Amino acid sequence: MPKGLLTIADYRKAARKVLPRMAWDYFRSGADGQTLLKRNRAAWDAIELRPRVMVDVSSPDPSTTVMGLKLPFAALIAPMAYQKLAHKDGELAVARAAEACGVPYVVSTMATTSLEDIAKVPGPKWFQLYCHKDRAITEDLIRRAEAAGYTALVVTADAPVLGRRIADERNGFELPKGMTRENLAGYGRSSVEGQGSRKAALDPRPLTLNAAEGSHLSELFRTRQDASLTWRDVDWLRSLTKLPVLLKGVLRTDDARRAHDAGCAGVIVSNHGGRQCDAAVATARALPEVATAVGGKLAVLVDGAIEWGTDILRALALGADAVLIGRPILWGLAVGGEQGVRSVLALYRDDFVRAMQLCGCATISNCREVSERTEPRP
Ligand code: GLV
Repeated sequence: MPKGLLTIADYRKAARKVLPRMAWDYFRSGADGQTLLKRNRAAWDAIELRPRVMVDVSSPDPSTTVMGLKLPFAALIAPMAYQKLAHKDGELAVARAAEACGVPYVVSTMATTSLEDIAKVPGPKWFQLYCHKDRAITEDLIRRAEAAGYTALVVTADAPVLGRRIADERNGFELPKGMTRENLAGYGRSSVEGQGSRKAALDPRPLTLNAAEGSHLSELFRTRQDASLTWRDVDWLRSLTKLPVLLKGVLRTDDARRAHDAGCAGVIVSNHGGRQCDAAVATARALPEVATAVGGKLAVLVDGAIEWGTDILRALALGADAVLIGRPILWGLAVGGEQGVRSVLALYRDDFVRAMQLCGCATISNCREVSERTEPRP
């Protein structure tokens, strides 16, 4: 591990140095003009807290419970594709670090290690589900996740098609030889991992110029992901499984209420790390309204450019139950494998505890009391 990694920005810079260009561009990119990457960050920066003074914060308790899961601090690891692109140990290294730190890990459909192998590493795990046009594949993924012991499904709702990542198009992004989308590898020729030429795995519709020249992932979404998903499909998914379902990518109160009515157990306020609709609202701006609409009834989680302990505190102050940490996990993975991810998680935890102390919060419930919105008016 390199020395002097004091902040998430340090990990990001160090990761950039070790990652091949195609991997760095894939992980770091936002969509289109990439404005949302900056706006997600700026929206957290704009949130001011009202620290309390003269509170005993000599031993704050950062632990909390979300959907029955005990978290050592209010964070989970976000689902992210292709973790072997960051480090040869990929998802297994992340799972081991998560287990060592007690932090739940949300495993991606697009993992480069099978969900079964990841589940052999102990520790709480949820499975992120992309719904396939071929419903039999979707159903099979759910059965496999259940059998392997995942305790919730995170259904990604903000990716009917893939957002445009210009760098990936320029790079002709695809997985290097020998790396596969392991969860989909068993579905034969009809699957995205169909053998033979790249074209043989795709549908017969003519490709647009960009897709033909560009990122394999966007072709894959266009041809294999189900862009016709509606609330009816949430009913269908729920009819298939007893696992609690969280909807990821909710940015509006009406959708949050709808998720509640559809029997979801949680919503994740997310814009996919700025990788889908570049014009979408920043998560820190959408969070308070969503939390007001469904907080207390559903688990409300949030992600997007959370870099400091104070960001976790800001999220809780605005009504979130916990946050998801995304890219920084990959930066830790890239620079130090399992140890790098452990260090990143420890950095967040320590930083969050300090933020609690500096804001006069001895417990997680106190974190709700330090936002501008909860400041008692004279
Ligand atoms: C996949 O989910 C991606 O955002 O690249």
